[in-house]
Amino acid sequence: MGTVLSLVGAMNPLIQATSDWMHRLGRLALPCLVPVVIVPSVRAQASTVDCDRCHGDREFLVGKRDAPGEDAALYVPQSVLRSSRHRELTCRECHTGYDDAFPHQPGRSTASCQSCHGDEGRDWAASSHAVSAGNGDSPTCVRCHGAHDIVGVEDRASPIHPLNEAGLCGDCHGDSNILAAYFTDPADSVARSAVERYHETVHGLAVSERGLVVSATCSDCHSPHRVLPADSSSSSIHRDRISDTCGACHLGVVETYRQGAHGTALLAGTTNVEGHGAPVCTDCHAAHGVAAVDEAWRAGVVDECGACHERLYETYFETYHGKVTRLGGELTAKCADCHTAHGNLPAHDPRSSVHASNLLAVCSRCHQGASDRFVQYHPHGDPHDRDRYPKLYWPWTLMSSLLIGVFGFFGTHTVLWLARGVVEGARGRAEGDKR
Ligand code: HEC
Ligand code: HEC
Ligand code: HEC
Ligand code: HEC
Ligand code: HEC
Ligand code: HEC
Ligand code: HEC
Ligand code: HEC
Ligand code: HEC
Ligand code: HEC
Ligand code: HEC
Repeated sequence: MGTVLSLVGAMNPLIQATSDWMHRLGRLALPCLVPVVIVPSVRAQASTVDCDRCHGDREFLVGKRDAPGEDAALYVPQSVLRSSRHRELTCRECHTGYDDAFPHQPGRSTASCQSCHGDEGRDWAASSHAVSAGNGDSPTCVRCHGAHDIVGVEDRASPIHPLNEAGLCGDCHGDSNILAAYFTDPADSVARSAVERYHETVHGLAVSERGLVVSATCSDCHSPHRVLPADSSSSSIHRDRISDTCGACHLGVVETYRQGAHGTALLAGTTNVEGHGAPVCTDCHAAHGVAAVDEAWRAGVVDECGACHERLYETYFETYHGKVTRLGGELTAKCADCHTAHGNLPAHDPRSSVHASNLLAVCSRCHQGASDRFVQYHPHGDPHDRDRYPKLYWPWTLMSSLLIGVFGFFGTHTVLWLARGVVEGARGRAEGDKR
């Protein structure tokens, strides 16, 4: 074995010299010989044979570009193309006008990717990325896929494989120069923190730590090609479409959401009594900072509900459950324990978790042995609301009137008594002075 290797080593300069000589011969002699002698058969395989002769020979290419190091890009051997998804293509199907070998003649051109991939091409052309692709700051097809070593998304080596993709997008979206040049508006704070937040929360951790290829990567939410800002109506992250985007994976959740009051109100464009529109997934869960649903998160999301249901939020905190929540009680009932997380419906709807017929089941989850009487307790009891809670309003009004009456009477009595004391005291002193 050793001798074979040293023999090959010794022959190296010879092999090199021969190959250099063949190149020179090829460049000088072939152009004259080929047309005369073997035109038909070589033409048939020209694209493979011709190109690889030079572009598959690293040593020949050394120094063929002015700037040092740039000649490496000229090295495109057939084997690279053969192990890519374009293995069925020839060099010529993308590069036309190179048939005269070297030096390549004017008029040659390289086909655009979109000439064969029309759909992806149209989506990309309509995206934010197409705007600044000219100056190299935002990605073209080649930046995300490569030019010759293109493999499918399922290939572990692909830059767009789920376990690699956040790194690809992060090269730019985590780059301080790009952020300083394109995302300076105060409204761009989501964009500026996107990469960092993603990596430290549930979807990013599922990729980096749990190796889950089915977790959400950047392009699952932003789409791979039609990448657009949230305020564009055809963006995958527009408010009207975000539930479909998350729902592509969380299908069971989005089905429930669509049947609930929130999903229905979003579709109809209606608001609640306090004038707020319907919430979408990201209002309660955030976009890049999607957190695991644990007790601390459950307690925090009560404030999100309260941002739109202001009065019910106040009444909740006036009652037992709310007060315990404020004190940090984890086991007590939060909004979603009674209303469900995604299928909330008004109390008069028989499907609602807070419809009279379902309350016993809901309260019994925590209050074992709860009775029909127990569930008549009002979790939002508001004694100011006569229409909704007459049983609270009238006793409260009576008690308040009684209190005001009693305190009013004795208060007045005391004031008068005091006044009288003062007057009589003054009168007593005046009479004493006279004496
Ligand atoms: C005889 C050697 C040789 C052959 C054969 C050859 N090339 Fe080249 N090619 C070169 C060299 C050297 C360069 C670098 C020249 C430069 O950049 O000015 C080059 C440059 C290129 C470039 C870079 C872009 C450009 O236009 O400069 C492309 C693309 C290319 N060749 C494609 C092909 C294809 C496709 C074939 C086969 C049909 C082919 N070449 C056959 C030597 C060759
Ligand atoms: C699917 C289309 C496609 C095929 C097939 C293809 N190329 Fe290319 N090639 C490209 C594109 C696109 C570029 C420009 C890359 C860029 O912008 O960085 C390119 C660039 C090149 C370059 C120049 C690199 C540079 O940095 O200037 C060479 C040389 C080259 N190709 C040779 C070949 C050879 C040889 C083959 C066949 C083995 C081949 N190509 C097959 C699309 C293709
Ligand atoms: C910002 C990065 C990015 C850019 C730019 C980009 N792509 Fe993609 N492309 C992706 C990702 C990510 C996927 C994988 C989508 C998926 O998960 O199925 C993809 C998938 C594809 C697919 C495979 C589709 C399929 O159904 O399997 C093709 C073809 C494609 N892109 C072509 C293009 C073309 C052509 C361009 C330029 C017009 C382009 N891409 C620009 C990221 C990009
Ligand atoms: C001459 C037509 C042609 C050109 C130009 C072309 N492609 Fe393709 N591409 C194909 C064909 C054919 C396939 C194989 C489709 C298949 O396997 O189903 C393919 C497959 C792909 C795939 C894999 C799709 C998958 O299902 O996973 C990607 C990604 C891709 N091309 C990207 C590109 C990019 C990027 C460019 C530009 C550098 C490009 N293509 C240029 C014809 C072309
Ligand atoms: C080569 C650098 C680069 C790469 C790679 C890149 N982007 Fe971008 N992206 C940009 C730049 C620059 C802009 C701003 C374009 C502009 O406003 O002109 C941008 C804009 C965006 C926007 C905001 C749209 C807007 O107009 O506000 C989103 C969302 C986005 N990219 C997502 C992605 C995703 C997802 C990936 C990976 C699949 C990705 N980008 C890969 C550079 C990049
Ligand atoms: C789970 C879905 C999801 C994932 C994963 C995700 N994003 Fe986002 N992204 C969103 C949503 C939703 C918004 C819009 C937030 C808003 O309403 O302002 C957004 C906004 C953005 C913006 C600002 C767009 C604008 O309109 O100004 C950029 C840039 C961005 N994301 C980049 C990324 C990058 C890079 C990654 C991967 C590291 C990523 N995102 C991962 C959902 C996601
Ligand atoms: C109004 C606020 C709100 C909206 C809108 C919302 N969620 Fe939730 N989500 C919650 C709450 C609260 C929980 C916790 C439920 C619990 O206590 O078990 C939750 C739990 C979850 C869980 C974890 C399930 C579990 O119980 O562990 C997922 C996944 C989820 N939501 C996804 C979504 C998706 C996808 C959407 C959009 C279709 C969405 N959410 C819309 C409030 C919301
Ligand atoms: C590509 C699929 C995919 C998309 C799109 C997606 N998710 Fe997820 N999501 C997952 C997976 C997988 C997990 C589980 C991660 C784990 O357990 O490590 C998860 C976890 C979650 C959790 C945590 C659940 C828990 O029990 O702690 C929430 C909340 C969530 N996603 C909400 C969303 C929201 C909101 C969106 C849209 C903005 C969204 N997801 C988009 C796949 C996705
Ligand atoms: C972005 C504002 C917003 C947020 C946040 C929000 N809601 Fe709503 N909610 C609405 C709107 C709008 C409706 C529909 C009102 C209607 O149809 O009268 C509604 C309806 C409801 C209903 C049905 C009652 C009715 O009047 O139709 C319940 C119950 C409810 N929400 C509970 C919650 C809970 C629990 C949370 C937190 C987990 C929450 N909401 C978060 C806006 C919001
Ligand atoms: C202990 C269970 C419980 C908790 C906790 C709870 N609710 Fe309620 N909620 C109810 C019941 C029962 C009703 C219907 C009877 C009523 O109006 O008092 C109701 C009514 C509502 C309604 C009006 C529904 C309609 O039919 O008009 C909204 C909106 C609402 N709650 C939101 C919230 C919000 C927001 C929170 C948290 C801040 C919350 N709820 C906490 C049980 C609860
Ligand atoms: C997620 C669990 C949970 C749910 C669901 C729940 N509660 Fe509670 N509730 C508690 C906890 C915990 C306390 C505090 C018990 C204690 O410390 O004594 C409490 C306290 C109370 C109290 C005051 C103390 C007492 O035990 O008398 C009332 C009244 C009450 N709940 C009524 C209800 C009603 C009515 C429902 C259904 C509409 C309900 N709760 C649903 C957990 C829950």
